[in-house]
Amino acid sequence: MSPTLSPSTAPIGVFDSGIGGLSVLRALRAALPHERFVYLADSAHAPYGEQGDAYVAARTEAIAHHLLQTYGIKALVVACNTATAAAIAEVRARYPALPLVGVEPALKPALSLTQTGRVGVIATRGTLASGKFGRLRASLEGPVQFAVQPCDGLALAIERSTADARDTDPATAEVRALCERYTAALAPFGTGHGEIDTLVLGCTHYIFAEQALRACTGPAVRFVETGEPVARQTRRLLEAAGALAPVSTPDGEAVRLLTTGELPLLQAAAQRWLGLPARCCAQVLVPTLASGAHSQAFSALTATHQAQAAINL
Ligand code: DGL
Repeated sequence: MSPTLSPSTAPIGVFDSGIGGLSVLRALRAALPHERFVYLADSAHAPYGEQGDAYVAARTEAIAHHLLQTYGIKALVVACNTATAAAIAEVRARYPALPLVGVEPALKPALSLTQTGRVGVIATRGTLASGKFGRLRASLEGPVQFAVQPCDGLALAIERSTADARDTDPATAEVRALCERYTAALAPFGTGHGEIDTLVLGCTHYIFAEQALRACTGPAVRFVETGEPVARQTRRLLEAAGALAPVSTPDGEAVRLLTTGELPLLQAAAQRWLGLPARCCAQVLVPTLASGAHSQAFSALTATHQAQAAINL
């Protein structure tokens, strides 16, 4: 794929700290079958959740810059709750003409699902400590109580466990142990009075640990994740911008998957979670922009993108 001047045939950029955002990409592909996608897993810099806002914001900026400059993306989906909380406002300010979608823990959908009035939320430390999450929670808490649990290490363990799904694999055992520890901190789960009947998966990696989580919560608890609402929102924004791809099979590659980390890990994830062959995957280097270079690079790209958008209005 190369940069293009036509937003409607340009790819949609999707990124996450690692392979977690593939859960969002899966929903995007189902909702937008005529679109091309370029997905970037920043696995060399994962996990984001325990690194602090400045680090996550710098990585988000570098990746947005890379996807715009190298692939001419027509929209960006930040398929990472932690990066959305730390940096989406900055990306929006820098690229006002770029259709931009972030993800946040699905507290609102959980409100309408819970019968017991107790909702569990698992997410990274960064997401739960963010002002964005604090404001969302405060705006909704009342009749429904949210019990939150940061899950240090879980996203990373899920990354490591991708290549080998066997129960005996140490990374898979670690996923199981972490799920047990963090759900035990939230318990009791169930449909009885005072029990958590709805669990919000506030990190895009966690749905890939669904089995391990389910073993801890029991069958009656509902899991809420964000792939489908994000895909619907992306579709709405593209429609509003008149930038949906034409209804025809896209030319060339429909999905390109990139990683800053280990290529075999992304290839295993692509195969396991999306049924995509290894040849869709490649390794890339995306250096963090030097602080002086930020504003120059971003204003140049903003101007380019606005010009592209204007051409197609
Ligand atoms: N998948 C990411 C999220 O949704 C973050 C995982 C991490 O890198 O800590 O928050």
